[in-house]
Amino acid sequence: MLELNFSNMMGEVIGEKGVSERQIEGIKAVVHEIDKRIKAKERPELAFIDLLEQDTAEIKKIASDVREKSENFLILGIGGSALGPRAILEALSPFHNLDKKPKVFVYDNVDPRTLHRILSLADLKKTAVNVITKSGSTAETIASFMILWDKMNSAVSDPTKNFIAITDPEKGSLRKIANEKGFRTLSIPQGVVGRYSVLSPVGLLLAEVIGIDSGEMLKGAGDIHSKCSDAEIWKNPAYLFGTLLYLMEREEKRNINVLIPYADGLKPTAEWFCQLWAESLGKSGLGLTPYPSLGTTDQHSQLQLWMEGPEDKVVVFIKVDDYGVDFEIPRVFKDVEGTSYLGGHTLSGLIKAEQESTELALSKIKRPNMTISIPKIDAYHMGQLFHFFEVATAFTGFLYGVNPFNQPGVEEGKNFTYGMMGKKGYEAKRKEAEKASNAKRVS
Ligand code: PA5
Repeated sequence: MLELNFSNMMGEVIGEKGVSERQIEGIKAVVHEIDKRIKAKERPELAFIDLLEQDTAEIKKIASDVREKSENFLILGIGGSALGPRAILEALSPFHNLDKKPKVFVYDNVDPRTLHRILSLADLKKTAVNVITKSGSTAETIASFMILWDKMNSAVSDPTKNFIAITDPEKGSLRKIANEKGFRTLSIPQGVVGRYSVLSPVGLLLAEVIGIDSGEMLKGAGDIHSKCSDAEIWKNPAYLFGTLLYLMEREEKRNINVLIPYADGLKPTAEWFCQLWAESLGKSGLGLTPYPSLGTTDQHSQLQLWMEGPEDKVVVFIKVDDYGVDFEIPRVFKDVEGTSYLGGHTLSGLIKAEQESTELALSKIKRPNMTISIPKIDAYHMGQLFHFFEVATAFTGFLYGVNPFNQPGVEEGKNFTYGMMGKKGYEAKRKEAEKASNAKRVS
């Protein structure tokens, strides 16, 4: 079971820069109120919690067909519609395309070079294209879908068979096209917004396509939910995580949250968390800046800044107890003092020692940090990680008094893009953009 060790956030360990039990006791009444609001599903977007009970039969059926007939599985999506699938892929099937079928490509940008490379690697006749967009109208996803639709029309006689749409059950342009053309479709339930959708068909179809049991992910999420729905803050890891980071920002001005998993496969999970945390909390002049990192790699790149730079961060480690495989470091070069001490240890022993040493070093100089531990990286514990972070984020949004489910700040940029690309109704935005483009330049 996922566990949160928060000792190094507390005054007993890091002195006056730490949080006190009294502070947490003092916030308990607010936490109880928020807990009630979450349980009452005060906002429809809390429907992400209901995903734990979903029926996955249709997802499994489509995935089995893809596995049987396709050599490539190409995801088109962006933000919450791509970061979750990528996190699952890298955590549970690293280097997938080197020896597994179908190969998986996640095209989550509109960089022409990337698409060109994907199309040179994937024969469209043997490719299932999974278009994912909750709104059904995101310019990047729709543009790449239009290109793929056109190319698929030239490649096969019945292109509809090659497309699987994951979108809103009723609304949006993708739903309209999918219904008209007769694509296979899966729905993201109405209330669930992009960055809380990894445990919907958005992430689960990819999981099944690469041979991961989506039921295990949901089981893991369900088991952690029983802890993350405890009204008692001291027993609820998600509420405690949010409260500690909130107090560190409010009381100590630590508004940067580093997330550093000690596992290569969890790097995209840190990126997924960044969208969730940043887009959910960053509004009304408030918010916490997430900072994705990787251990041990970033000890040799970022740690200096965390140790002796500005006191504006909290470091959150993700620790893996069992890597599933290991290597013993051989007792070679025995006569070289600088290498012989490593002989006989294991790589997992070394990576764990590095994580613990970093934790100790930070704590020794009173820099707050905490550790999320998972027993191993498998479907069950990935489900736990995802759900833990989602509940923690929604809770923290309520603690700040912001809506953790919208992203109004993203709309203005989108409107300028619509104007520049000539979308009807956005003529004024086009004019505004043209006027502003006389920026000062140097070359
Ligand atoms: O969290 C969100 O809702 C957004 O960040 C979306 O994930 C992102 O904008 C993509 O939206 P859509 O899935 O509608 O294409």
